[in-house]
Amino acid sequence: MNGSQITTAPDRRDGATPAPGAPVLEVVGLRKRFGDLTALDGIDLTVNEGEVVAILGPSGSGKSTLVRCLDQLEGIDGGAMYLDGELLGFEQGRTLRPLTDAGVRAQRRRMSMVFQQFNLFPHWTVLRNVTEAPIAVHGIAPAQAKAKALDLLAKVGLSDKATAYPRQLSGGQQQRVAIARAVAVEPRVLLFDEPTSALDPELIDEVLQTMQALAATGRTMVVVTHEMEFAREVADRCIFMAEGRVIEDRPAEAFFRDPQTDRLRSFLARSMRANADQGAERETGRETDRENGARQP
Ligand SMILES: Nc1ncnc2c1ncn2[C@@H]1O[C@H](COP(=O)(O)OP(=O)(O)O)[C@@H](O)[C@H]1O
Ligand SMILES: [Mg+2]
Repeated sequence: MNGSQITTAPDRRDGATPAPGAPVLEVVGLRKRFGDLTALDGIDLTVNEGEVVAILGPSGSGKSTLVRCLDQLEGIDGGAMYLDGELLGFEQGRTLRPLTDAGVRAQRRRMSMVFQQFNLFPHWTVLRNVTEAPIAVHGIAPAQAKAKALDLLAKVGLSDKATAYPRQLSGGQQQRVAIARAVAVEPRVLLFDEPTSALDPELIDEVLQTMQALAATGRTMVVVTHEMEFAREVADRCIFMAEGRVIEDRPAEAFFRDPQTDRLRSFLARSMRANADQGAERETGRETDRENGARQP
C-alpha cells in the first residue's frame, strides 16, 4: 500500500452521536489492485444507520475484496473509507499517513465480519468462542460477557450448545455461533461474506433466518450473498457489482422489479434459475432427512 497515492477528503468526525439514518459507512472512489489486476475500480457506497445492504454480482467482481477492504484485512490503493465519519486506515495530519497497527486494530474493533468458513476456534467451547473478544479485546467483565453470550446464543437458537465444541455442531449451527460472536462485540456494522455458501443446502435457511432476525433488530449490515430471496426480502438496498465497479445501487424492491442495465437483468435471470434449482435441492434434502428418520434440530 502506498499512502501517497491515496486521495481523500479530511476526517469528518465532529464528536456528535450519529443520527438515525446517518451514514455509518462511506466509501468514496475506492480502488484496489492485485498486481496488474484492478479488483476495485472506484467504488462509491454509503451505508446508513440500521440499513441492510446486499451486495450481489458474479464471481470475481470484487465483492469479497470490498468487504475485506472495509474490515482492513486488505490495504487500499486509492479513495477513502469512513466509519461514523472517521477516516479508516489513515490519519490526517498535515499529510495523510497510514495508521499505526494499534490504530487499525482500534478501528477494526468497531466492525465484525462473518466469513463463509465460520472461522471458529476448534479447541474452544461455543461459549468461549463468543466471549473471547468481548473479554480479551473489549475489556468486558467475564460475568457480563458470559451473560450476554448466553443471551445471544439463545437468540440464535443454540442455548443448549454453550459447552459444545465446534466439531460437535453442524455447519449451520457453527455459522449461527459465528454470528453470535460477531454481534457480541456490539459492532457499528456487521459484514457478511457469503455466509451460507459453504453450507449444505438444507442448512442454509436456519442461517438466513438468524440473519433476518438480526436485521429486524435494526443492526447495520452489509451482506455479500447469492441468496436472491434473502436480498429481496431482507435488504433495504441492493448493490450489483461487476468488474470492480458498482453497476446498480437501488432499493431492493426496485432492484429486482426493474433492473436498469442488461447486465443486471441477465444476472438476475441466471441467479433466479440457480436459486430455484438449489431450492429444489433443499426440499429434496428435507425429504431425504424425513425418509431417513432424521430428527429436526
Ligand atoms: N489476494 C489476491 N491476490 C490476487 N488476486 C486476488 C486476490 N483476491 C482477489 N483477487 C482477484 O480480485 C478479483 C476480485 O476477487 P473477489 O473480490 O474475491 O471477487 P468476488 O468475491 O466477487 O468473487 C478476482 O479477479 C480475484 O481473482
Ligand atoms: Mg467472494
